[in-house]
This record gives sequence, C-alpha cells and structure tokens, in this order.
Amino acid sequence: MHNIHDQRLLIIDFGSQYTQLIARRVRECGVYCEIHPFDLPEGFITEFAPRGVILSGGPETVTEGSTPRLPQAVLELGVPVLGICYGMQTLAEQLGGQVQSSEQREFGHASILAAEPSTLIAALGAVGDKDTDVWMSHGDKVTQLPPGFVVTAATAGAPIAAMEDPQRHLYGVQFHPEVTHTAAGEALLKTFARDICACEGDWTPANIIEDAIERVRAQVGDDHVVLGLSGGVDSSVVAALLARAIGNQLTCIFVDNGLLRLNERDEVEAAFGPESGIGNALPLKIKTVHAEAEFMSKLAGLDDPEDKRKAIGNTFIDVFEREASALDGVKWLAQGTIYPDVIESAASKFGKAHVIKSHHNVGGLPERMALGLVEPLRELFKDEVRQIGLHLGLPRSLVFRHPFPGPGLGVRILGEIQPEYAQVLRQADAIFIDELRTADLYDQVSQAFAVYLPVKSVGVVGDARRYEHVIALRAVETIDFMTARSARLPYEFIERVANRIINEVAAVSRVVYDVSSKPPATIEWE
Ligand code: XMP
Repeated sequence: MHNIHDQRLLIIDFGSQYTQLIARRVRECGVYCEIHPFDLPEGFITEFAPRGVILSGGPETVTEGSTPRLPQAVLELGVPVLGICYGMQTLAEQLGGQVQSSEQREFGHASILAAEPSTLIAALGAVGDKDTDVWMSHGDKVTQLPPGFVVTAATAGAPIAAMEDPQRHLYGVQFHPEVTHTAAGEALLKTFARDICACEGDWTPANIIEDAIERVRAQVGDDHVVLGLSGGVDSSVVAALLARAIGNQLTCIFVDNGLLRLNERDEVEAAFGPESGIGNALPLKIKTVHAEAEFMSKLAGLDDPEDKRKAIGNTFIDVFEREASALDGVKWLAQGTIYPDVIESAASKFGKAHVIKSHHNVGGLPERMALGLVEPLRELFKDEVRQIGLHLGLPRSLVFRHPFPGPGLGVRILGEIQPEYAQVLRQADAIFIDELRTADLYDQVSQAFAVYLPVKSVGVVGDARRYEHVIALRAVETIDFMTARSARLPYEFIERVANRIINEVAAVSRVVYDVSSKPPATIEWE
C-alpha cells in the first residue's frame, strides 16, 4: 500500500468558522487533508503536492482590493479546485468574473435547482427538475462568470449558486456543503475528494493506527518514552497507541493531585490494567504518584482562580518532572496534542474566526525537560481520536467522556480549596454523573458536573437548623465550547439528583441548578 498521506487535499483557510468542518467531512470520506492559511509561504503548495484544493469561506469581501486572495500557485498546480462561498467568489474574481455585494444577506436554507449538467451538483441529488436543500450564508455573490465557466446550479437568491469550468476542473459553490444543514453536502464533498480528485479513501482508523505505530517506532527507536496519563480521551488514546507501538518502552505517569473525580484513579488503572483487553495484549506501565498533600500545600491560602490554576499547573510540572527524571534513560515526552491545537497556533491573523486558546495547563513542560516530543495525534481531529481509541479497544465510557479541565475540581470549588470540600464535591458529582448515565442523558449533554459553593445556607435537620454549604449542578449543550446553553434536563430528574445528594452526602443541605448560557456566563464557575 502507498503511504496514507500521499493522496491528499489542501484546504486553504480564508477565516471561515466552518473551515475545520470542511476538513472533518473530507477526512470522513477517507481522504487525508490539511488546513493552511491563505497566506502560506511561497513554495509550500507545490511541495505539498495535493491532488485537489478546497477554498474555504471567509468573513471578508472580494469587492475590496486588500482582502485575501487565492495564491496563484494553486491554479498552476493544474489539480481540481473547489471554492466554497468566499472561496468561490475569489476564484471568480481572480479568473475574470465579477462579484457584487448585495443589499440583502442570504442566510439559512435555500432550495437549489441544477442548471448545466455537473457530477458535483448531481451528487447533491439536484437533477432535472428535482431540487434539494442547501445552507447559505453570504452577502456577496458572483454576478458574472469568468471565461470558460458554466452555471451548474441556481437558487432564488443566487442565480449563480454553483459554477464550474469542466476543462480545467475548477468548481465553485455559493452554499456550504460542509454543514449538516446541506442535505447531501457530504456526498458532494465525497464526489469531489474521491472521484474528481481521484483519492482512493485509505484514511481509515485501521490505517491511521498502523501508520502512527510505524512512525513512532521510527522516531524513538529503542529509547524510553514518558507520558502524563490523565484519564482524558487524548492522553488515553496516546497511551493505548504507544503501548501497541513500543510496549514496555513506555512509562505512564498518573498524578493524583487530590482534585480528581471519585474513583478516577481506579478507573484509569482498570482501563489499562491487566484485566482490560489492552493490558493483556500490551504491557503498559503506569506509575501512580500520590501528590495530594503537595498540591494542597501549594494551594493553601489561594482564592483567586488564576492563581489557583497557576499553582496547580506549576505543581504538576514539578511533580511530573521529578518523577520522569527518576526513570532510567527517558529521552522522549509523549503528548496528546491534536490537530485543532496545531491549526490554532498556525492560523493566519487575518480571519475573524481566529480563536485564542486561553487554557494552557502544562505549557512549558517540554522545554524544561529537554526531551524530544512524541505527538502521535497531531494530525487528528477529536472525532478521529475517538474512533482510533475505540479501535484500540478503549472502553466507550472513556472514549466519550465529557471534557474535564486540567485543574480538575480545583476550579469547581469556589475560592480557597480545602481537602474536605473536595471530598464532598467528589461524592455529589459522582451521584449526578451516575444518574445521568442511568437515565441515558449522559451522551446527550456535552459536559456535566457539580460545583462546590462554600456559602452558608440554612437547612433543617430533625428539629435543628443547620448552616451548610451549597452544591450547584451544571450541564450544558454545546458544539464547540465557545458558546453553550444550559441543558434542559427533566425537572423530575434534577429533583431526584438533588434529593440523592442531600440524603447521601453529609454537609450538603441545598442543591441548585445553573441555567445560565455562555456567554456571558462560562461553563465552569471559575
Ligand atoms: P469555560 O469555563 O471557559 O470552559 O466556558 C470552556 C471549556 O474549557 C474547559 N476549561 C478548562 N480546561 N483547563 C482546562 O484544561 C482550564 O483551566 C479550564 N477552564 C475551563 C471547561 O471545562 C470547558 O470544557
């Protein structure tokens, strides 16, 4: 078999909020692709040698001269090009067509009808008189075709909703095939990637794993590798992958910082231990470090959230570094960096969708430790990481676990952290999660957890009035964690959870449910 990266597409980013979606859809068709900003360095495009190029949408307008344009080198490659929204407009404008700003923005569903015959548009199901639903989001539109192009689809709002030059294999669509609102958008992208660009589709979980294993082996040889295993999806998949690639050359360090969820350590040990399929097939060394007291002493007296985050992050680095250097002959540090982190740090500053990541919990670790980096998930999106995890035999409950912040319960106990607060919170949180799983609601919410509020509230126990602390429950629905809304859990369900917490956890007599949206509230309380 040829290398799974050979047949690849290049996605040029003009700053659309949907660019990563384009790449994910192309990958789902079994085709490897990479996202690069439109202002990428000279020479890169020819060297990258893609079989096709997709131009993303973007927030700018080509009716102004200083906005982003398609690098000339893309057209010189002679491979198929598909422009989406802004990508189509810049393609039209640069090849001699015209684009105009319309007074009315077209946003939402639109019905599309085929014009001149086109395999791409036929893939959408728009053939003859049969229309199909697409998703539009644009102000500008192409009003005059460049030479060599024909109109292949039209909507009421956009008479040139799709265009192509069949000779040069250049395509443009005004709508967004990458969003699920476009009924057969994935079929369009698949036709482009697999048929028009002639990629065979060997980007599959099994091949990705095999390729990653070979590359890790080539990279580290007989050296030893250390990995911080947290029980989160990314580090767990790295552990499973490396276990398969290099077996007992890997040592995982699991740091118990006293701010973990109930039974977390046991769960991680069970997921990889000798009892699990993985443990039997792959000898995985896990070193658990009991650093609860060290973390608590560093946190004493701190009540500012950012100070707490820094203390937890720095203590983690200290502990990890100490434990790793106690191991013999470690040359490499493995990390669960994934593709969105890589794209974010390389993104063009032009795009308005550019997001600055604010949470770097263990930044600085690789530099301080002078170890080489092994990052086998660098090319993968989260959904690909999950698929690989399942393929490697990790339990579903771990692979589809909600995100858990690096500082753990440290940002869910408001103000100064006391070990006994963590103990209470752990129990309350476990009841909430347990009930969510039992009621089949866990996978329907994006993130759910309990928060400890050290404020005194009155409760009546027997005949006595007692002042005790409060637990807040938080559950959100979100796609990207940048915006979120409070999950509308059934009232009876919330009541049941509250009753269980009040009855089963001493020192809690009041439970509240947080109904705030993000923004302005954040998902975490600190
Ligand atoms: P917020 O609270 O900012 O959270 O709406 C968005 C997502 O980020 C997670 N989060 C963190 N993750 N370290 C992390 O690794 C942190 O300090 C941190 N703070 C928030 C949060 O759980 C949610 O998924």
